[in-house]
Amino acid sequence: MTTLVIGGAGYIGSHVVRLLVEQGQKVVVVDNLSTGILDRTKGAELVELDITESGASEKLADHLRASGADSVIHFAAHKQVGESVANPEMYWHDNIGGLANVLAACASAEVRDVVFSSSAAVYGVPDVDLVTEDLTPQPINPYGATKYVGEWMLADSERAHDMRTVALRYFNVAGAGWPELADTAVMNLVPIVLDRLEQGKAPVVFGDDYDTPDGTCIRDYVHVLDLAHAHIAALDYLRGEDRPHRVFNVGTGEGSSVLEVIEAIARAKGIEIVPELGRRRPGDPARLICSGDRIAQQLGWKSEHGLDDIVRSAVEARSQSIAPDVEAYPEA
Ligand code: WQD
Repeated sequence: MTTLVIGGAGYIGSHVVRLLVEQGQKVVVVDNLSTGILDRTKGAELVELDITESGASEKLADHLRASGADSVIHFAAHKQVGESVANPEMYWHDNIGGLANVLAACASAEVRDVVFSSSAAVYGVPDVDLVTEDLTPQPINPYGATKYVGEWMLADSERAHDMRTVALRYFNVAGAGWPELADTAVMNLVPIVLDRLEQGKAPVVFGDDYDTPDGTCIRDYVHVLDLAHAHIAALDYLRGEDRPHRVFNVGTGEGSSVLEVIEAIARAKGIEIVPELGRRRPGDPARLICSGDRIAQQLGWKSEHGLDDIVRSAVEARSQSIAPDVEAYPEA
């Protein structure tokens, strides 16, 4: 089988590329290397292309035909919530426009199977203990909205061109399957805490007055390697006959608070950490925990790593590390 992975030089995409290559599959990575890292794509062919540029759809269709690809996994998108609020036009142009080019290329090259990187951000601030896929998405920022619209686009292409599509709604991804594939961006809790500790600074907790046991926000942290396996399972699902669903949450079903994550980092590093208390971050739901029932039943996928595994892999990767390349969150 040949799979074309768009954004395969990125943090999550490169983990999927690694698994596909290890399975002996032919992989073509399409990436503009704006944030991706070339060394992450070993074993795959690389096509350097910006899928948002004019004429990208035709070029992509040519690569799909030339490679004989039978499936596409699409990761390439901007994913910073704050940035999307400040610059929604770029998110609409690149996230939606890029996906439109990908789907047009698949239709033109008659590639039927598409796995799409969606996000828990489509849910906004749900007031439920466990988030199921039946919950009506109500994104509260342009980033989450582009992911929800992306799911609509897949459904339309599926109907128009007899395609087979799956959208995976990622909850909070962290950790490293291989140290060299670690997340080098400092945009989420675990890398931000590790980065601040390396700078000799205490991590900042964005609010401790939420309606949760310890007052800090609860999230469903999923190991990036488990998430990568979910994409492999999604490709297998698309090739099957019985496909009642097109959207799947990807998480563990377990919640961890900000303080619990910081304590896990302290355990992994063998140090004591005394965090600072900062202001709440606008738009943060108190808890966001995924129900993994549908993906377990339909794709046979369940997470295999818990919070300590996730944090330990991130700490170990950092100790062998690549310097972070993106500014951390602004002070709360
Ligand atoms: C987690 C928790 C913060 C940093 C985002 C996207 C989501 C997905 C994952 C792509 C929150 C708190 C953080 C810090 C803190 N991305 N925090 N101090 O916001 O849950 O989700 O990333 O799909 O779509 O929205 O992740 O890692 O930013 O924050 O207290 O220095 O940690 O307030 O409660 P988030 P996060």
